[in-house]
Amino acid sequence: MPRFVFRSLFQLHGKREQGMNPLDQIVSQARADFLAASDAAALENAKALYLGKSGQITEQMKSLGKLPPEEKKVQGAVINAAKVQIETALTERRDALANAQMQTRLNAEAIDVSLPGRGRSVGGIHPVMRTWQRVEEIFRSIGFDVADGPEIETDWTNFTALNSPENHPARSMQDTFYVDGKDSQGKQLLLRTHTSPMQVRYARMNKPPIKVIAPGRTYRVDSDATHSPMFHQVEGLWIAEDISFADLKGVYLNFVKAFFETDDLQVRFRPSYFPFTEPSAEIDIAFGSGPLKGRWLEVSGSGQVHPSVVRNMGLDPEKYIGFAFGSGLERLTMLRYGVNDLRLFYEGDLRFLKQFN
Ligand code: DAH
Repeated sequence: MPRFVFRSLFQLHGKREQGMNPLDQIVSQARADFLAASDAAALENAKALYLGKSGQITEQMKSLGKLPPEEKKVQGAVINAAKVQIETALTERRDALANAQMQTRLNAEAIDVSLPGRGRSVGGIHPVMRTWQRVEEIFRSIGFDVADGPEIETDWTNFTALNSPENHPARSMQDTFYVDGKDSQGKQLLLRTHTSPMQVRYARMNKPPIKVIAPGRTYRVDSDATHSPMFHQVEGLWIAEDISFADLKGVYLNFVKAFFETDDLQVRFRPSYFPFTEPSAEIDIAFGSGPLKGRWLEVSGSGQVHPSVVRNMGLDPEKYIGFAFGSGLERLTMLRYGVNDLRLFYEGDLRFLKQFN
């Protein structure tokens, strides 16, 4: 090896060990630097010191140009061998770092397969939903259709079409949740205060005879042991050419007997007032046994559909007649299970809810 090459190598590499070939010296320094690099970025920086544009090996290559041809050949091979060694060391270190990184990730994401499983507890049906399902089943079994309608209603369907006068107290801000937005007549939209608007909606979409129930959520500004701002009702409607109050009595008696699973109960119709029925009645029931024995309990509003409402259904009140009722699903549920506070249904307390499943 020509002397001046040795010298230049020596100058480039200050920490030369005695007796070591200067190129070997570079290789071993490169190996040490690569090992010291603790991540990919540091490794690439270390690589630049040797193989980069002005790296030590690159500089060596450049200096070859000054040598006579045969020496160039010999020395070129020596430098190349060193380069290959450095590249090998670099690849090894790259692999090692990648493996270490993968290992760290695997450790971090490790799953302890010996841990007990989390299990999957069985869900249950909410008692009010159970009532809803039972009501549907019972009315379907006697030929009623089941319909569904919007919870955001117009003033017309919720009030006017049902014969509620413009100044009816139910329209006040204290009783009703009004919603931002207006209907096509410029009236404020609202959360329906009852399922009764479904009477008109359904009748306008279907031909008589009309025989339907419409269960669903309803809303009022009300909250105490027997009222919740959101609650559920089921509306019933039967309109044909010959449906009388007697049919209402028969249908409702059949319903409560099926719902409470007893024949040992009485039903009474107590005169009342609703704008959309005439005559109107509250339906009370009394059980013949059990903890509520002998007490009259109100379960529903009802009546013969008012002729004006029949007209708003798009039907001729001279020809069509029928009954309607509206019952609270929470009320029915409370009576069936003996629950004394309606708010319990909406507190989400599993100790309470589990009892129904
Ligand atoms: N909509 C009434 C309410 O929410 C309940 C009701 C009464 C519905 C009489 C009816 C009915 O269909 O005929 O208080």
